[in-house]
Amino acid sequence: MREEDKLALKALFKAEDFSDSHLDLITYSYDASDHVQAPDAVVWAASAAQVSSLLKLANLRGLPVIPRGAGTGMAGGVVPVRGGVVLDLCRMNRILDIRIGDRVAVVQPGVVYAELQKALAPHGFFFPPDPASGKVCTLGGNVATNAGGIKGAKYGVTRDYVLGLEVVMPDGRIMRTGSHCMKSSSGLDLTRLFVGSEGILGVITEIILKISPRPTAVKTCQALFADLSQAGRAVSEILHSAILPSVMEILDENTVRVLREQGGMGLPAAKALLLVETDGFTEQEAAFQLGRVKEIFTATGAQEIKMAATPQEAEDLWRARRMAGSTAAQLRPNNVAEDVTVPVSKLPALLEGISQIVGKYGMPFVLFGHAGDGNLHPKIMFDHKHPEEALKVGRAVDEIFALACRLGGTLSGEHGIGLAKAPYMPLEHDPLALEMMGSLKKLWDPNNILNPGKMGLPN
Ligand code: LAC
Ligand code: ZN
Repeated sequence: MREEDKLALKALFKAEDFSDSHLDLITYSYDASDHVQAPDAVVWAASAAQVSSLLKLANLRGLPVIPRGAGTGMAGGVVPVRGGVVLDLCRMNRILDIRIGDRVAVVQPGVVYAELQKALAPHGFFFPPDPASGKVCTLGGNVATNAGGIKGAKYGVTRDYVLGLEVVMPDGRIMRTGSHCMKSSSGLDLTRLFVGSEGILGVITEIILKISPRPTAVKTCQALFADLSQAGRAVSEILHSAILPSVMEILDENTVRVLREQGGMGLPAAKALLLVETDGFTEQEAAFQLGRVKEIFTATGAQEIKMAATPQEAEDLWRARRMAGSTAAQLRPNNVAEDVTVPVSKLPALLEGISQIVGKYGMPFVLFGHAGDGNLHPKIMFDHKHPEEALKVGRAVDEIFALACRLGGTLSGEHGIGLAKAPYMPLEHDPLALEMMGSLKKLWDPNNILNPGKMGLPN
């Protein structure tokens, strides 16, 4: 970036809200993916008006602007591949309004997900999507990636809860989309277009979210299987039965082994672990559903079934799932974690296919995820210092994406495309659909200043 561009940028921000220090440039060069590239500067915005001035300036001078929340994204969505300015939105962190009567919360993009839940809890309400990084990720990032989470099968994803937005367009104009209403059939759905748009169309500065009453009863159980196909059958039978679990997570045999050997957890050897939770507004409702789950686990031949009798016991059962990713990551210095998703009936084929693919390359890997909505997280561990390992991981990932698409699935169930999946977009999307995405980007952002180089779109 030219010195004169930096000076112009500095003039828009207080001294403490602009940085080009080496430390900050390194800090803002990565997210939770394997991609790294430093920006030229970082700014911290306090208002939509300030974002607007920044974008006006960037648009005139052709400077890339990369909007960013907490940087927990797993696809490289906020990595500044073309340099430019990272726009940190974490200071826009006010909950502007909670209107229980309207079932609506209005928030700024930098509100941490968990803070919204804390604010809703005293009212007996919650925001149902639940990304695994909920303690630290921001709602702006959740909207920008259409984040999912552990309760997707019953409660859906972020997109299902965004009613409206305030967005700063690349030329600095400020636009409002949607409404505060529970439903609307009024005009083209621009709100929906921005959800999952990964910061390439505009900068989200306000979010109107739908909220729900929080179920007061929750029941948890865990089952271990000696055979992967039995676990697959259990998942499929639960989905066919007339109940709707709020959680149905699967951990494969490698994950169970890693948790036992690296994580020191007292788990027996098993080919698969299922963690299921049911919820409701009465104990009977949750217990009835969990009773059905237990019957199915027994009928499909589970080797061990554990039912949590207390919240503490439920927390113990959750430990395996919570520790899965981080324990596996300790095996090697680097890792990639994907989020391929298939129609739920294809889940057993995806599980088996991924295990064969990665197994063939001999790399350490684990496979876990949200069985209830067909979303798996293959996580492959490697060391960048050994180029042949990185090459093998690349090949395995190519094959995983090809398999998911062949099964009628999608490259990303919840993390987004960013950089990590950009080259694979043609595998999933119709050429005309891709062309339309490119045309929309051009229309909204003709100078290509907003988060350029992402999502596999042209230029
Ligand atoms: C999870 C993240 C990886 O579900 O999406 O843990
Ligand atoms: Zn996930």
